[in-house]
Amino acid sequence: MVSAEELRRAAELLRAGRLVAFPTETVYGLGANALDAEAVGRIFTAKGRPATSPLIVHVDSVQMARTLVTEWPDSATALAARFWPGPLTLVLRKKASVPDRVTAGLDSVGLRVPAHPIALALIREAGIPLAAPSANRFTELSPTTADHVRAALGDSVDLVLDGGPCRVGIESTVLSLVGGVPLLLRPGMVTQAQIESVIGPVAPGGELGGAHASPGMHPQHYQPRTPLVLGPPKAEGRGAYLWWKEPKAATRMVAMPSDPSGYAAVLYNTLHQLDSEGLDFISVEPVPEGVEWAGIRDRLKRAAHAIS
Ligand code: TXA
Ligand code: MG
Repeated sequence: MVSAEELRRAAELLRAGRLVAFPTETVYGLGANALDAEAVGRIFTAKGRPATSPLIVHVDSVQMARTLVTEWPDSATALAARFWPGPLTLVLRKKASVPDRVTAGLDSVGLRVPAHPIALALIREAGIPLAAPSANRFTELSPTTADHVRAALGDSVDLVLDGGPCRVGIESTVLSLVGGVPLLLRPGMVTQAQIESVIGPVAPGGELGGAHASPGMHPQHYQPRTPLVLGPPKAEGRGAYLWWKEPKAATRMVAMPSDPSGYAAVLYNTLHQLDSEGLDFISVEPVPEGVEWAGIRDRLKRAAHAIS
């Protein structure tokens, strides 16, 4: 875990424009001072991420969120009351004080209050909002442990705060509140149905390759190095089979939890582990339809995209 001394050091580095990786409840983030364009530039360099991909800004409260936007609709008040701190990112009209580099030139910014004590303590200690994408190299799997971060980013990050494995396990739900109808840009473990129970109808916008796909939602995100296929294991080669309902013979048979929260919590860690085993393929039993599985379906589809 993280000592008070380490937290102070991390906050100091962030205020000085350096990069600190920190745990959130979803995945580890690669953080920089969101109000310092040069510091934010270091995130893009460390990740090898194109400048066209906007970053999420992490805040400790609605109060801090409101300092970064020009409009705070009633829907944001209602959603923040229900889901913050938590894995829901709200896209809102940004103030000029938020550097264009954070938002890839868009006039909106993605904001969330992470539900992780270390993330919240870090934002408070630093006293600034933290821009943080997932702490992986561009197109690779997101990290859910500090070891994943160190393996992916090595020396390009100044400090990694170790908070153990992430509880949620896949990235936050992203919802845009800037247009007329709220738009679901990226599904996650806060489901469309849960959001609709608070603010009414939401339009799906984040479908793979869809016309309204969120900027930066490249279809090849979230890929393991080992080819991943949705469906039964292949006959040839050494492969893994991730099943939740019906096991099938494979070199590595991996029983996944049959509930969506349990499945999401272990998905990336399982893929990171299998990726280190030199297998020919990773096959995955398709997961159920239904909104509670939408975030997981989306990540699996993207992981499989290159070859399916
Ligand atoms: O759970 C998470 O969201 C993690 C943790 C670290 O908070 N972060 C994360 O960041 O997944 P990243 O950079 O890997 O994904 C951010 C995504 C972008 O790819 C984009 O789709 C969306 O959030 N996004 C951010 N700002 C946006 C904006 N202004 N308009 C539309 N989409 C935006
Ligand atoms: Mg990412």
